[in-house]
Amino acid sequence: MTKIGFGTWSWGNRFVWGYEADKNDQLLKQTFKAAINNGLNLIDTADSYGTGNLNGRSEQLLGNFIEELPFSKKRSLTIATKLAPYPWRIGRKGFYNPFKLSKKRLKGKIDRVQLHWSTYRYAPWQETQLLDGIGDLYENGEFSEIGVSNMGPKRLRWLHSRLKKRGIPLKSLQIQFSLLSPQQNRNQIKAVCKELNIDLLAYSPLALGILAVKPSDSKVPNTLLRKIIFNRLLPASIDLRKGLERIAIERKASQVQVALNWCRAHGAIPIPGIRTPFQAKDIGAACKWQLSKKEIDLLDNLANQAKRRMPSNPLLSK
Ligand SMILES: NC(=O)c1ccc[n+]([C@@H]2O[C@H](COP(=O)([O-])OP(=O)(O)OC[C@H]3O[C@@H](n4cnc5c(N)ncnc54)[C@H](OP(=O)(O)O)[C@@H]3O)[C@@H](O)[C@H]2O)c1
Repeated sequence: MTKIGFGTWSWGNRFVWGYEADKNDQLLKQTFKAAINNGLNLIDTADSYGTGNLNGRSEQLLGNFIEELPFSKKRSLTIATKLAPYPWRIGRKGFYNPFKLSKKRLKGKIDRVQLHWSTYRYAPWQETQLLDGIGDLYENGEFSEIGVSNMGPKRLRWLHSRLKKRGIPLKSLQIQFSLLSPQQNRNQIKAVCKELNIDLLAYSPLALGILAVKPSDSKVPNTLLRKIIFNRLLPASIDLRKGLERIAIERKASQVQVALNWCRAHGAIPIPGIRTPFQAKDIGAACKWQLSKKEIDLLDNLANQAKRRMPSNPLLSK
C-alpha cells in the first residue's frame, strides 16, 4: 500500500451555498479522481465532517465519488471513517445508529472505523463502552479494520490490549504529526505503535498548510482559525521553511513533498488535506522518493528550533 493517504476534513467543513456548492463539488470530484489516479489509496473522513445542515457532507461526497469507480479500483481503496464520541452517544450500542448512517452516506464502503477522540480525560468509561461496541460491529463483519485517534501512549496500550483479549487487532492510530506539531509524547507514541504493530497516521501533516508556504511568502488564509494560526506560526517557522525550500529545490520537488516525506521518514503515514487536483498530483509524487539521513537530521534540527508550534489537541489522552 502507498504510504500516503488523504483526508477530507475541509470537504465537510466548508459552507455550502446554492450554485457555489455545485461548483465546489465538481472541483472536489476532480480532486478525488486525481488523488486516486496518483496512487493515493487510504482516505480518511469522519461523521463529524460536515455537521448540522451540512449533514455528513464529507462522507456523502465521498460516497458519491466512490460509487462511480469501477469495482477493482473501489476494492483497492481503504475508506476510513471516524465516529465521534459525542456525550449523547453512550453505552455499548452508542455507535450503532451513527455507524449505520455513515455506511449509508458512504454507500456501503467502509473499511475502517476509528474512534475519533479520547474521552479519557472526562468520561473514560464512555470510550471503553464505545470501543467494545465497535468491536461488536467488527465481529459482525461490518468492516475489516479498527482504528483510534488522539490517544496518548498509555491509553493506546490499554485499548490495544482490551481489543487483543477478544482477538481483534488495532490497525491504526492517528495523531497530529508534522514538523510543527507539539512534541509531547511523540516519541513514546511512535515507540508503542512500532512495538504493537499499529500504523501511525499523521493528521495535519502540513500544519494546516503553513509548511506549504514559501519563506518569501506571507499570505494568510481567510478562515478565522487558520488566519490566527498562520499569523502566529508563519514568522516562527521561517528558518524551517527555508530548509524545506532548499531541499525542495535540490530534489526538484515541492516543499509539501519534503514535509510529507519527513513524516514518512519518521514512520508515519501522512493524510494531508487536499483541495485541488494540482495538490493531489503534487502529493502523489511524494511517494516516489525519500529523504536522505542528512536531510532528515537537518529538518529535525530546524523543527526543534521552531519558536512556536501548532496548538495541541485538547482531547488527546495520556
Ligand atoms: N483525527 C483528528 O482529530 C483530525 C484532526 C484534524 C485533521 N484530521 C485529518 O487530517 C486531514 C488533513 O489535515 P488538515 O487538513 O487539518 O491539515 P493539513 O493536511 O496539514 O493541511 C491541509 C492544507 O494544506 C494545503 N495543501 C495541501 N496540499 C497542498 C499542495 N500540494 N500544495 C500546497 N498546499 C497544499 C491546503 O491548503 P489550501 O486550503 O490553502 O489550499 C490544505 O487545505 C484532514 O482532512 C482529516 O482527515 C484528523
